[in-house]
Amino acid sequence: MHEVLKIEGKHLLKGTVKISGSKNATVALIPAAILADSPVTIWGVPNISDVGYLGELLEVLNVRFKQVADDQLVIDPTNIQNVTLDHAAVTKLRASYYFMGALLGRFKNVSIKMPGGCYLGPRPIDLHLKGFEALGATIEFKQGAYHINAEQLIGAKIYLDIASVGATINIMMASIHALGRTIIENAAKEPEIIDVANMLNKMGAQVRGAGTTVITIDGVDILHGCAHEIIPDRIEAGTFIIMAAAAAEEVTIENIIPQHLESLLSKLEEMGVSIDYSLDKVTIRRAEHLKPVDIKTLSYPGFATDLQQPLTPLLTQAEGKSVISETIYVERFKHCQELQRMGANIDLIPATAMINGPSKLYGDKVIATDLRCGAALVIAGLIAEGITEIHDVYHIDRGYDNIDAKLKSLGANIWRETIE
Ligand code: EPU
Repeated sequence: MHEVLKIEGKHLLKGTVKISGSKNATVALIPAAILADSPVTIWGVPNISDVGYLGELLEVLNVRFKQVADDQLVIDPTNIQNVTLDHAAVTKLRASYYFMGALLGRFKNVSIKMPGGCYLGPRPIDLHLKGFEALGATIEFKQGAYHINAEQLIGAKIYLDIASVGATINIMMASIHALGRTIIENAAKEPEIIDVANMLNKMGAQVRGAGTTVITIDGVDILHGCAHEIIPDRIEAGTFIIMAAAAAEEVTIENIIPQHLESLLSKLEEMGVSIDYSLDKVTIRRAEHLKPVDIKTLSYPGFATDLQQPLTPLLTQAEGKSVISETIYVERFKHCQELQRMGANIDLIPATAMINGPSKLYGDKVIATDLRCGAALVIAGLIAEGITEIHDVYHIDRGYDNIDAKLKSLGANIWRETIE
């Protein structure tokens, strides 16, 4: 018995959708909260299964975790115990690796199983580990778990060979109590990093420069609780914006920071999509004739790798050949095979997809092989003829807050079924 998501295509979308708090900020903010010595309240928490898995890990650490309203969590680390994180939830998501930095920062030692997450090709964590070592930690990997220990953590200058989001946040957390100053060079600049730095600073940390390539952390002795509201999810926003470009009579996407979406919005304008901008929302109508575009994924503020998958079904509707070059996760093209099953004409060569449009898409049985592949298939389902049946929906539920309810409210015909 498993759950599938079914979509009957060709229903035009109309209305307003409110974007939830950022998944990739949330999954770092929850581990960051354990650095405090008193309760942390977080607003704008999305209703996604990754939050539930992190809650299971907090329980293991004896950290109280209470949902006090729909999108509000209180995390109370007062009685935290630093035990080995070998719980199954560690392997359910990638972001469990943030407990490495958070526990190392707080206790100077951590034992944790290998993190899990979407398979997007190889996802090494060597830069995280190199950063911990530079701060004075020793690392042992045995029986599937990392054991990271330090007598004392001492501030250091750390140059990241690749501007990694995870390594930047993990080193920020690990160095929060380190002696002296830590400087992260070639840091990633994603908005989620600024959000984590902002919360850490509210807790009493001294983090400067988040959002630029150089982040400075001056170690402090104590962090206290605080209240923090999570930034809107730019990837969920981008997904709904693409849905609207594909299938909207007129849809307003609200609670967004348009500046976080510049690379997507300018590509959509290049394709001929009409966009009306306001302070915290955009209104989109689908275009009759879409022009093809070329995309190259890059770290922020370049085109987000997380949005190339949702964009692919829209590119199948453009009149001509579009090229997606993936520079972050070169194997992130599993969605293309599923889209091909629905009628897309895509040629794959290493790290590149060539999409020849326009193609008529037809509903079929397809598999959400990872989170953003799932989003791509939902978009394809909205424009396809007939019914699309998406399997392995749990991937979608890891990162999209009530995607089916939000789409239903816009007029989509989407529902879940349990099948044998
Ligand atoms: N990399 C290394 N060594 C490392 C770390 C990263 O070689 O130690 C490489 C990666 O293999 C990749 C590149 O550096 O080629 C960038 O990876 P990064 O570390 O920035 O990715 P991440 O932190 O693991 C986050 C998001 C991903 C998103 C990427 C890129 C979270 C929890 N995940 O992953 O989100 O694709 O940044 O922007 O924040 C998603 O939401 O669907 C998702 C996969």
